[in-house]
Amino acid sequence: MNYEEVMKLALERGFYFPSCEVYSDANAGFWEYGPSGVSLKNKFLELWRRELIRRDGMMEIDGSQIMSKSVFEASGHLGNFADPIIKCTKCNSTFRADRTIAEIANIEIPESADLIEFDNAIKENKIQCPKCKGDFSSTKKFNMMFKVGIGPQEEEAYLRPETCQSIFVDFPRLFKTMRGKLPLGIAQVGKSFRNEIAPRQSLLRLREFYQAEIEVFCNPGRLDDVEKFAEIEKTVIRVQTDGDPISMTCKEALESGTVPNKFVAYYLGILTEFYEKTGIDVSKSRFRKLGDKEKAFYAEVAFDFEVETTIGWLELVACNYRSDYDLSSHAKMSKEKFEVMDNDEKVLPHVFEISMGIDRSLYTILEHSLKNDEEHERMVLSLKPYLSPVHVGILSLVKKDGLKEKTDEIFLNIKRKYDAFLDHSGAIGRRYRRLDEIGAPFAITVDHQTLEDNTVTIRKRDSMEQSRVEISKIDSILFDSVGFP
Ligand code: GLY
Repeated sequence: MNYEEVMKLALERGFYFPSCEVYSDANAGFWEYGPSGVSLKNKFLELWRRELIRRDGMMEIDGSQIMSKSVFEASGHLGNFADPIIKCTKCNSTFRADRTIAEIANIEIPESADLIEFDNAIKENKIQCPKCKGDFSSTKKFNMMFKVGIGPQEEEAYLRPETCQSIFVDFPRLFKTMRGKLPLGIAQVGKSFRNEIAPRQSLLRLREFYQAEIEVFCNPGRLDDVEKFAEIEKTVIRVQTDGDPISMTCKEALESGTVPNKFVAYYLGILTEFYEKTGIDVSKSRFRKLGDKEKAFYAEVAFDFEVETTIGWLELVACNYRSDYDLSSHAKMSKEKFEVMDNDEKVLPHVFEISMGIDRSLYTILEHSLKNDEEHERMVLSLKPYLSPVHVGILSLVKKDGLKEKTDEIFLNIKRKYDAFLDHSGAIGRRYRRLDEIGAPFAITVDHQTLEDNTVTIRKRDSMEQSRVEISKIDSILFDSVGFP
């Protein structure tokens, strides 16, 4: 399904909607998750924990969203975390230079290119303001961090533009107190904040957004000493260095030099296995190796995990080899020690990062799962059962004759174990359609026969197949189907 259809579903079925929408001064780039969206997000994160954090034996932390100025001086964000912008000299509208040039002249200039490259493209292609046809001023840098003032003195601090900075500054304490051993993955889920010039497309470019970030600290001399590589050597990943994406096993990617070492190949492998379990069609994915001008300022090597959608390729995860960029900068600025012992060797660890955009991942899951079942005139959200916001709808055929009470009793018995939705009113067909749209894999209907023989009808979302089962079997049917794989 396309972006508009996903948007309609999101607004009508409680997945997400604009923040502060009742006010006319609501700012762009801020969205809320409704009950269906929160439930999907929680389950997505539980899968992430299972497939990446626990699988690899990582630690998870939960750090502050507001961080001191020194953190971002050291990280380079105060100096470098900026977008190229151009301002119209006639109507004063501001635009991102790279996007405007791409949209009007179809020329791709990486956002980190020298400013003169944007100015030259604007001049050579006679690009003018799309709103009023005025001329543009020369390109400037706009820092995307939100500044905040702490306490009455309004001490300078910032909302974090990426969650991982707390992982870096907490590393010495965590390594020591949690008896760390290299390689060590430390993860964090939370909000990050970027003052985007042109937020757009709901969850796809937000000013306040969720990240699930993993920073794996490693000994740079032992990147091929990875026993776990055997777990994923046959896993197929799709990699694009130049030309079209090519499917290859992790072993082939390593042997052909497409990925630099076993360590990176292992994480690309487990990341692909994770996304496969989300229901995203990974045959439409690619790890795109970024060129020097496209990489973030802290990355030595970078692969973006991108997935094809109806609005183009979306970057869901940035996989950056950040070397010792962060730890050495924080060590220098804070004058603390960030080296650790790896066996008998003292090392300043390098970092490989798997930085996941949660909101974009959820959008992509919705787009890849939403189907128009024309034959039955319904929209079906064919989510993996373990990601469904609601596992089961519990419906009474009618409210009278004791059916309501029997339905309530069944609901009471399962609602603490499964996400169940109780519904007593409306035409049964319409109630099934609503459950199909929020992706509930099962609907259970209580009718007059239930009172006679303690059986209910259970309907499957995708096949619409209905069968009669004993009430005592409901738990095991749900347990077998909606548990995590
Ligand atoms: N930490 C990398 C990113 O936010 O893209």
